[in-house]
Amino acid sequence: MNVFELVNAFHQRFPDAGEPIVVRAPGRVNLIGEHTDYNDGYVLPMAIDAQIMLAGSLRGDQEVHLYSLDFQSGDQFSLQDLQHSTKATWTNYIRGVCAMLSESTPLRGMNIVLTGNVPQGAGLSSSAALEVGTALLIKNLQGLDIDPVKLVKLAQRAENEFVGVNCGIMDQFISMLGKKGHVLFLDCRSLDYQLVPAPFAAKQAAIVVIDSGVKRGLVSSEYNLRRSQCEAAVRELQKSLPQIRALRDVSPADLDLVEKLPPDLCKRARHVVTENQRVLDAVRYLSAGDLEAFGRLMNQSHVSLRDDYEVSCRELDLLVELAQSVPGTYGSRMTGAGFGGCTVSLVAAEYVDQLKAAVMEEYPQRTGLEPRIFVFSACEGAEQLQ
Ligand code: GLA
Repeated sequence: MNVFELVNAFHQRFPDAGEPIVVRAPGRVNLIGEHTDYNDGYVLPMAIDAQIMLAGSLRGDQEVHLYSLDFQSGDQFSLQDLQHSTKATWTNYIRGVCAMLSESTPLRGMNIVLTGNVPQGAGLSSSAALEVGTALLIKNLQGLDIDPVKLVKLAQRAENEFVGVNCGIMDQFISMLGKKGHVLFLDCRSLDYQLVPAPFAAKQAAIVVIDSGVKRGLVSSEYNLRRSQCEAAVRELQKSLPQIRALRDVSPADLDLVEKLPPDLCKRARHVVTENQRVLDAVRYLSAGDLEAFGRLMNQSHVSLRDDYEVSCRELDLLVELAQSVPGTYGSRMTGAGFGGCTVSLVAAEYVDQLKAAVMEEYPQRTGLEPRIFVFSACEGAEQLQ
């Protein structure tokens, strides 16, 4: 759907409302640096060309009237009484952002119509895109003076405190601050970031994302368990490294101390310490245009997520193996929180069809699941379109 069609749908839904503004916010794929964001570490995501678009205008009261074109369903709530919805759960992302923004500024009511094409439940951050898009829409509609990083933190709080998912900051950050043709290297402690030109297009390589079709059922309980194991590992390591605050502060030179932790904590910490180093190396290789070396790091990241962090699953491992069996694949790994969702592979452009064929031939037959294959390019972060 384009902006014109969305605006038309808005006028149909709200015939008496004035001209809306329109914003978009993209989903993301993380190239490397998994489960490092909540350990104050490094990540390297890119914004993808799948997005959520929202058209909105102000109302004279304090009501929010919503309509989702994709769900073909609407909802409304009052800004003076922001409650969780158990019926229309997709509205909680919007309610949450309203709740966070209302803490510091009284908000005016709004009419909002939205649509999107970020695959849902696939680990491509459709929720972060919705939160970030809502935050930008409200900021622009209501003329709020908030910088993008503050909006990112607020969108993350909406997810943590209102929706109740204890995620890190990566997804909202890249959805807001991604740049066309670039990947974003983020230090999740300082929030300093650097946009690294993605040499994929110039080098004739593609970012191929494959949705395993496995619903990420365990994700929130296992995610929280991993977070607490990382915190427990920090407490143990502080006995010999009192200066550390997070696993980010543990360098590969300290891995001998990590090896002395109880087995589970050792594996979790080893993943985070080595993954942070892989991100730093990956940024160097990417800047030098060395896709072979970059791809090797992706492969190592997958092994570490599978064996040490234990967040992969049979289907994701199979997709990675299938990708790696295609000669033009530089590297492949699971991406996002894990337990289902997607893999990401860096593949020489002329081998993309071969990869698709290999996956379509083997994967459904061996798993009974239908994969979805996307070729994404790095796109711009959230912006107002009209
Ligand atoms: C989810 C979370 C992110 C991050 C990843 C794992 O996508 O929302 O904050 O922790 O998992 O890297």
